[in-house]
Amino acid sequence: MVKFVSFIKMHDQIHNLPKIELHSHLEGTIKPALALEIAQRNSVSLDTNLFHENGSYAWSDFSSFLTAYDSVSSCLRSGKDYRDITYEYLKDCASENVIYAETFISPDHAAECGISYDDMISGIASAIDDAEQDFGIIGRIIVTCVRHLGAEQGLNVVQNMVEKPHPYIVGFGMGGDENAFTFEEFAPVFNIADEAGYPCTVHAGEICGSESVWDAMHYLPIKRIGHGVNSIEDETLLDFLSKDWRNIHLEICPGSNLALSVFPDWESHPLLSIMKKGISVSLNSDDPPFFNTTVGQEYHDSAKHFKLSVEDLKQISLMAMEASFADLKIKSRLIEKIKKFQS
Ligand code: ADE
Ligand code: ZN
Repeated sequence: MVKFVSFIKMHDQIHNLPKIELHSHLEGTIKPALALEIAQRNSVSLDTNLFHENGSYAWSDFSSFLTAYDSVSSCLRSGKDYRDITYEYLKDCASENVIYAETFISPDHAAECGISYDDMISGIASAIDDAEQDFGIIGRIIVTCVRHLGAEQGLNVVQNMVEKPHPYIVGFGMGGDENAFTFEEFAPVFNIADEAGYPCTVHAGEICGSESVWDAMHYLPIKRIGHGVNSIEDETLLDFLSKDWRNIHLEICPGSNLALSVFPDWESHPLLSIMKKGISVSLNSDDPPFFNTTVGQEYHDSAKHFKLSVEDLKQISLMAMEASFADLKIKSRLIEKIKKFQS
């Protein structure tokens, strides 16, 4: 009984803790019901193979996940659709006491659906305004290119971003198939973002090994790495990450890693070992409905499986807010808010 009461108390404390999300893909946050609703109003027929009988998304490995992600995105047709998916995502985040969320957006996916960059951004920005007014959550945008579409396409994306600045666009990044092309080929793309003052993050060390993290740090002007969990293969790399002057932050998504079989189970997930090295980390949802998770779930699961205390989780929120691309005023205000949280 005593154990049960303390479990409930900890559960409530984790729920109430102010949380930060730094790594989600907006098109990957669309839940099946919303995808079907938007597809219906746009008269788009979604591939029936996209769904399991129970209604969840069907995919079996990283490559079929990326295909399913493209299929879900194909329901979108307008800036209003982008507004609706952003609002629903931020509303869900706020219900778990996420106070700040940066989400990756993919202009390539929008263009594939005939949606202009301007319409995409204005739809997302209006949802960010509405969500802040309705729930107090602050949302910000990281524009991303898609690695498997190549560096030429990446150049289009970054040039467009730099030519059309928006106060809610706070950074630049890249997702997609980590096996395609090299970071060296993408260096000119990231240099344009960096020189224009956009801090950068890149997916590395998720599907590929520790060499991918070395390459990302060598070739790209990055402040953060998406995942980076395969750094665990190389003790020298972990030492480097913990001592490097750039203090590179790892956006860790344990639920995604397990769903994509990057690690077979919680016991073999390296979050704790990485934290023990003193490397800055955050906990993130990546593509919540695909991996049956949310950012709140990631905090609860990490507490359970890694035996993290509420204080440990509070430190993770603080590391995340420090590593965010928010402007200094928002950053210091939200850091204070997290610090004030009493467990
Ligand atoms: N795009 C959406 N989710 C992704 C992931 N986990 N890795 C790489 N690209 C992605
Ligand atoms: Zn990701």
